[in-house]
Amino acid sequence: MSAITIEKGPGKPLYMQICDTLRQQIMAGFLTPGTKLPSSRNYAIEAGVSRTSVVAAFEQLQAEGYITSRQGSGSYVTPMGSLDVVEPVHEPRKPGSEYFQWKTLKPDNQSGSADMRLFPYRQWARCVAKVARESPESLVQVIDPFGDRPLRESIARYLFEWRGMKVSPEQIVMTAGSIDALEICIRTLLKENERIGLEDPGYLSLRNFVKNMGLSPIWLPATREGTQLPQSIPGKKTPKLVVLTPSHQFPLGGAMPPGRRVEFLNWAEKTESWIIEDDYDSEFRYAGKPIPALTGFDRSGRSIYVGSFAKIYSTGLRLGFLVVPPALVEDIGLTLSRFACKASVSMQRPLSEFMNSGEFYRHIRRVRRIYSERRRALVQCLQKELGGIVTFDDHQAGMLFAARLPDRCDDIAIAKAARADNIMVSALSTYYAGRNKQRGLLISFCVYGNEEIIENVSRLKRILEECKP
Ligand SMILES: Cc1ncc(COP(=O)(O)O)c(C=O)c1O
Repeated sequence: MSAITIEKGPGKPLYMQICDTLRQQIMAGFLTPGTKLPSSRNYAIEAGVSRTSVVAAFEQLQAEGYITSRQGSGSYVTPMGSLDVVEPVHEPRKPGSEYFQWKTLKPDNQSGSADMRLFPYRQWARCVAKVARESPESLVQVIDPFGDRPLRESIARYLFEWRGMKVSPEQIVMTAGSIDALEICIRTLLKENERIGLEDPGYLSLRNFVKNMGLSPIWLPATREGTQLPQSIPGKKTPKLVVLTPSHQFPLGGAMPPGRRVEFLNWAEKTESWIIEDDYDSEFRYAGKPIPALTGFDRSGRSIYVGSFAKIYSTGLRLGFLVVPPALVEDIGLTLSRFACKASVSMQRPLSEFMNSGEFYRHIRRVRRIYSERRRALVQCLQKELGGIVTFDDHQAGMLFAARLPDRCDDIAIAKAARADNIMVSALSTYYAGRNKQRGLLISFCVYGNEEIIENVSRLKRILEECKP
């Protein structure tokens, strides 16, 4: 070995700096396999460092497998086999760089977001602190793979009071959001070569996930009359599992009419198939009575309810839940034991505390009132400013608004221009899988104050005029 230079610098112990230097020299091929290293004494003299640091560095490199010590002979660079060290072509993307900012995320990840400025941070912190003080073990220990028992009891009460569902905590499984819930259902219920039915248009993350699992979905067109039932065509497979958003179709809005719900429940019973009810934002109805959950009417135990805290609470919490029919509890437990549960236990007990303290319900009522005003402001603005261009059905629910555009409009280009101008919209056509795509814009309104909404619509008007076909 020729020059031994250690770039001594602050921040790292000397032995680690020696390690780094030697490791780099080995990986870059300057020190080839079999090369004998100088003795620790000579190395220390040449590099001007203490012998103790060199010995520690050699020991570390030996533990990592870079060098081998031979009794009475010295240390040698270990043969590395045929491992090629490839220099990265691109600089790795670092968190905090532009790539990770929300503006550049896929639009579906932001559409219909909650306004986190309204989050009751102080009340939440109090609940976390109380649990940390009184039962710190619950923040880290997994006792039950179905999730924290007190939280499941709180959710059962919530479902009874808000969704009219009578379920026992034993039927509730905590999940890491809705995609995790779906994965558990697919792994439990779908056998090889069985198919899944998805709404078209529908939730992009779900569609991407299903395709990524190697499944090829059967598309169920969502129309104003409700999502269509799977057709039974001789020689063609029908789905064994369908995922529906009956209380508020995503992304078009609108509730599935009662007759269509009954047809779906009958279909599931007759064909021994399953319905997954994705009830992602039913708390946000701004007029009339809440739409009851489809699962609440299921007498044959063929529907599974997926609840989410993403809309009422925060997407960052990454907690959702499943309500499974009693007959499925054991099978779901088996899936959890085979694939492990992904829901973090840490925030489950604080969430239970938050629900039991009443803060959770206060928060929902408060944001619902505010979102209702924002939604009204958006509807008025759209009617006034864009009445001649967009059309829409006002379903008085949800966290985003589907405004239809004429077929000749390039909604993707319009949405791109709007997002570049910081307006949270996405192109409706991108939510369709089939060829029959409706053009339009999905406009998020919860994250903006009334004045911002007025300003956004007038900017949107300018963009629409510029993008005129
Ligand atoms: C249709 C639909 N389902 C479910 C969810 C909740 O997803 P998650 O719980 O994975 O955040 C969302 C959130 O945007 C949604 O739009």
